[in-house]
Amino acid sequence: MKKYIVLMLLLTLTAGMLFAGGAQEDGSKLVVGTSAGFRPFEYRDKGEVVGFDIDLMKAIGEEMGREVEVQDMDFDALIEAVRTGTIDVIAAGMTITDERKERVDFTEAYFVADQAVLVREGSDISLDEAADLNNSSYRIGVQNDTTGAFWVDENAADAEIKKYGKYIECIQDLENRNIDVIVLDKPVAEAFAQNRPAEMIMVIPTDESYGLAVKKGSALLDELNAALKKVMESETWDELMSTYFST
Ligand code: ARG
Repeated sequence: MKKYIVLMLLLTLTAGMLFAGGAQEDGSKLVVGTSAGFRPFEYRDKGEVVGFDIDLMKAIGEEMGREVEVQDMDFDALIEAVRTGTIDVIAAGMTITDERKERVDFTEAYFVADQAVLVREGSDISLDEAADLNNSSYRIGVQNDTTGAFWVDENAADAEIKKYGKYIECIQDLENRNIDVIVLDKPVAEAFAQNRPAEMIMVIPTDESYGLAVKKGSALLDELNAALKKVMESETWDELMSTYFST
């Protein structure tokens, strides 16, 4: 009998710990999932994840009276993580798409971006139009499950397409000549062109809107929208824009 009591106690304790560790919808901590390596939205600086999305979430958290904790993961793991409650909200420069809307709820848009073509500095690749990428002699890198990957699958299927979990590996492969081209969001292509031996040679006008994403039906959505609106109307927004997009 004693054994069972001890066992029950242990089980209760473990369950309690499990719950305390995960995301909580109404606790004080707001667990934000992101995928660093997407500068200037989220990237690592001395080991710490920083960037536009992180500061935006901190400002939103302040509005909501909730502390923000950041969890960094592969981009293609984010939607499942928010669906299962490992994280409360995705802040990862995620484009609002109809397909994703079937799996998560998005806030109002907070940023608009196109795709772009990034090559090695000094590369002799020149394109008349984006469709020229549909050529078997090009090795194109993209991040798994991104709109860049979708674009390449649809428009450059003849090329050799390599998919990465993280952009950091993708840009390294570009520098190491394992791929020739990266198709990715334009603001991030511009940041790579500034910080790495890479250049942006073309914009692909896809007109995408970024939103924050939560579990379908989550009560957090309204709260996030209200806080996002407040932040976007405040000076904090202008500061964010000039900190991360001053060119
Ligand atoms: N905007 C693109 C998408 O939603 C790329 C986002 C990649 N974000 C990241 N943090 N790596 O598919």
